[in-house]
Amino acid sequence: MTEDAQISTAPLQTDQQGPHPDLASVVRKHLETTWCKPVPEHTKRAFDTALTWLARQGNPPLVLDSFCGTGMSTARLAERYPDAAVIGLDKSAHRLAKHAGSGGYLLLRAECEPFWLLLRQASLNVARHYMLYPNPWPKASQLKRRVHGHPAFPLLESLGGTLELRTNWSIFAEEFASASALIGIEGELETYSVTRPWSLFEKKYGERHQELWRFRGQCSR
Ligand SMILES: C[S@@+](CC[C@H](N)C(=O)[O-])C[C@H]1O[C@@H](n2cnc3c(N)ncnc32)[C@H](O)[C@@H]1O
Repeated sequence: MTEDAQISTAPLQTDQQGPHPDLASVVRKHLETTWCKPVPEHTKRAFDTALTWLARQGNPPLVLDSFCGTGMSTARLAERYPDAAVIGLDKSAHRLAKHAGSGGYLLLRAECEPFWLLLRQASLNVARHYMLYPNPWPKASQLKRRVHGHPAFPLLESLGGTLELRTNWSIFAEEFASASALIGIEGELETYSVTRPWSLFEKKYGERHQELWRFRGQCSR
């Protein structure tokens, strides 16, 4: 079964009772090392497309929608921030192909982590960064696959701006908030209810009345 097929909105099955005991040491280790991995060709091409698109608009503030899935949230963000350049990133061509909207924003097939690295290498800042329901990787052994356990996580602080994460797993939310503080992003964690869903996953969670969590933080630079 592919990773894409494994993502589901079914209730989470986890062997964790609370935040992972290794979280702080993993994040500190990633802070002390420089993450470098060859950038996939499709992500390089996506980044070049983004640069051209941004330049054509006179480089307005950038709103990034990482792990955007079908791009429903990207369209929502473009409505909300009409003066910004809104870019949605997802590695799944299959999900992106399901996008129903058009115009005013850019959807790109890319791996988020190397895309963040390319942004930093180009000294491009992000005004607002959104991550709605990234894969939870719920087993304790999968900590390093979670966004905050990934070696690229410290890059987020260097991109600047605000950062908003949404999840339906309270432990993931707590871990994300603690990991963010360790890399210099202070913020608030809260539960919230869906009124107008921003994404497909949010819509499904809302229909099932699942408890949802939101972290909103500010990068220190
Ligand atoms: C649980 S889905 C959430 C999608 C969407 N944000 C939503 O709320 O409906 C997670 C998405 O992250 C994408 N994804 C996972 N790892 C990724 C990575 N490293 N780079 C880009 N996309 C990734 C998957 O393809 C999937 O579409």
